[in-house]
Amino acid sequence: MARQLIPRRTFVKDAVMGGAALWAARPGLASLRSAPAAAEARIEILPDEPIGVISPDLYGHFTEHIGGVVYDGIWVGENSPVPNIGGIRKALVDHMRRIKPSVVRWPGGCFADSYNWRDGIGPRDKRPRRTNFWVVDNGLRNAPDGPQKYDPNAFGTNEFVRFCRLIGAQPYLAANLRSASSRDFYEWVEYCNAPAGRTTLSDQRAAAGDTDPFGVRFWGVGNESWGCGGNFTPEEYATEFRRFTAWVPDYGVPLAFIGSGPSGDDVDWTKKFFAHLTERDKGLLGLLYGWGMHYYCGTSGKGQAIDFTEDDWYALLAKAVRMEPLILMQWAAMAETDPKHRVRLAVDEWGAWHRAGTEVDPTYLFGQTSTMRDALIAGLTLDIFNRHADKVAMANVAQLINNLHSLFLAREDKFTTTPNFHVFEMYAAHHGGQSLRTVFSVPAIAQGQGREAGLPGLAGSASLRGKDLVLTVVNPHAKEAREAEIAVRGASVKSGRVRVLRSDDIHAHNTFEAPHAVEPADGALKTGGASLVHRFPAASVTRLELTLS
Ligand code: AHR
Repeated sequence: MARQLIPRRTFVKDAVMGGAALWAARPGLASLRSAPAAAEARIEILPDEPIGVISPDLYGHFTEHIGGVVYDGIWVGENSPVPNIGGIRKALVDHMRRIKPSVVRWPGGCFADSYNWRDGIGPRDKRPRRTNFWVVDNGLRNAPDGPQKYDPNAFGTNEFVRFCRLIGAQPYLAANLRSASSRDFYEWVEYCNAPAGRTTLSDQRAAAGDTDPFGVRFWGVGNESWGCGGNFTPEEYATEFRRFTAWVPDYGVPLAFIGSGPSGDDVDWTKKFFAHLTERDKGLLGLLYGWGMHYYCGTSGKGQAIDFTEDDWYALLAKAVRMEPLILMQWAAMAETDPKHRVRLAVDEWGAWHRAGTEVDPTYLFGQTSTMRDALIAGLTLDIFNRHADKVAMANVAQLINNLHSLFLAREDKFTTTPNFHVFEMYAAHHGGQSLRTVFSVPAIAQGQGREAGLPGLAGSASLRGKDLVLTVVNPHAKEAREAEIAVRGASVKSGRVRVLRSDDIHAHNTFEAPHAVEPADGALKTGGASLVHRFPAASVTRLELTLS
């Protein structure tokens, strides 16, 4: 549910303060100011300027009981002809393992604040059917009845945690703050984390086959509490947050509470929440592990997910890179109460939100088909998170399958990856690396002819582990390749390889009939020397893996 975003003037200023700016605008780089003779751009990686370790949690996912995400996306049922592992779609599990997901958020989104976790436990055939939060949405109003409108609760806490275990991810549960009590919240923690034999609730979990506690660490306390999560004021929400998180038994698990943070640029929500939370006791800041920010870049004008003009391409990419100033704005707002930055951001919903019309099934509310444009948005955004690895503790792309900015599309026995999946797979090489300040000396894409200001000529991020350097670069230009000289300060490149995701058609996307239409390709890289020159194709996402000598 989007909100009014920042004025353009503020954005342009903050974008320059951020990562992918003209190098001439950066202080302290006098030694680099010899303009490259051969290449039109220069990328300088600075190993002696570490930013922070790139947590794999920056590459998290989000799954909600909405449209085709859970039913038919993740959950097909044990008796389904679709290959499954205990009811969970096998193709999804196999592909998720390839991208090494570290965390998945569930069950919403707005749905979370109407969800009673007790509906989703116990024998599946005895679970109640409930009206889904999203039933009133216009996109579902005229759709046939089904699990999208009346949730059978076949997929509950045990099934979700099994899904997480199958793919090697940590669960992040979003608790209901609008329509459930703080007791419901701490009892959900008990159901998940208390050892079997300790309480009635932990015995109920064990009776379902899960003797070992789930050890759930991440707990969201409400969702969009300024909107669908209760229409609270920041002061009211701070009071509720204090009540929900007070004295929750942890069963030996270091609980990490994530507060329902702002929509994009709403710094007022952040400032007032932080001030009110701590008005009597500064120590209460310690209750907060992450401050959840949501930001979607939306399609405006006539275009939708597949059918868009070149101007639409630039307009949406320019909206996507606003993520960087938004992070900086929220970070500054948090500092007013938390100058030492004990709390970091959790961007637990992000992605492109297009107009309806490309969903693979009419009941898949907010379902959309992702193209190369969405792949570039994924690359630009993940690079922003890498560049701010010191500020962002977690991020969750919305949503995993059959929805906004999805990595997968599925319908019955059909399944395909989207271009977004390939970006996540390429960028997994950054997980656990040390993010390094990287200076992109490249002119911004010219404004005009429908193009918005603020879109860099090239953008990216770099990370280092030992002698292995990963550099990811997005070329947002729809038509022009860009050559760049790449240098690593104080080191030379011994060898390297390159993988690139590109297409001649900016609208290219995968379908059930053509699941390999968009796929990355490996290429050769000429190395040896203090720097190397690489040509980044138009409208592409590139990963360079370099071994330093
Ligand atoms: O991702 C779809 C919806 O967008 C989520 O339920 C909500 O949190 C946000 O507004």
